[in-house]
Amino acid sequence: MTPVTIGPATLHLGDAYTLRPALGFHDADVLDPPYLIRATGGGRYRKRRPMMDQIVAEQLHTGFDMAIVNPLLCGAAIVFAHNDQLAQLLSLAQGQFHRHALCVWQKTNPQPIANKHYRPDVEFYVHAWNRGYHPAGDLAELLRVSRITSPRGPARFGHPTTKPDALMTKILANVRGQSVCDPFMGTGSTGVAAIRAGKRFTGIEHNPAHFETAVARITAAVAELERADAA
Ligand SMILES: C[S@@+](CC[C@H](N)C(=O)[O-])C[C@H]1O[C@@H](n2cnc3c(N)ncnc32)[C@H](O)[C@@H]1O
Repeated sequence: MTPVTIGPATLHLGDAYTLRPALGFHDADVLDPPYLIRATGGGRYRKRRPMMDQIVAEQLHTGFDMAIVNPLLCGAAIVFAHNDQLAQLLSLAQGQFHRHALCVWQKTNPQPIANKHYRPDVEFYVHAWNRGYHPAGDLAELLRVSRITSPRGPARFGHPTTKPDALMTKILANVRGQSVCDPFMGTGSTGVAAIRAGKRFTGIEHNPAHFETAVARITAAVAELERADAA
């Protein structure tokens, strides 16, 4: 499948595990992969969560294979993971990268559900880097905790787990270098933030509907940047 090129962005419709190794070195890989989630239970509230039905229908609750995080293909990796894959992810960061930090997205609007666990009021990501690719940004940007509202309604772009623009903008401010790859692009939130940060972006997504959303969002981000440059 021929990739779609939009200014400094190249978007691939296909399988991340097949395509990512062929796309070569990027300064940073930013991964928001399918989380390993127990999609059962939830009691009465579960019935009012059609989002969870979409997560199951799109197999977004099955976790991911961490072999896709390859320190030979990226200077740094920023990887989201749900609770049950976090220990494995930290072990990978410890074993394969020079240094790493555990960072937290604290949601200001967590779902009113606990499901025999804690409420989903935080999501974790690990920023792991090799020498020369340590976190970028000024002191105000080098904080590990971000308090940001989770997208609801149209801000989800038809995807059940869209990351908020404000979070991805913060994360991209901590990325050193010029080239960013997101192998689980979804609706293109990483790409939008990368383009706004003036970086080159490579994205992969296997769901055609989400891919088309990413194409539209990144096209708009590139046009916005071109208008700003022309002004
Ligand atoms: C957690 S979502 C990413 C959401 C994204 N950060 C956003 O804000 O829209 C993970 C995405 O990876 C995609 N995906 C899952 N397995 C994949 C694979 N093997 N190859 C490519 N894409 C995959 C899913 O379709 C889903 O859109």
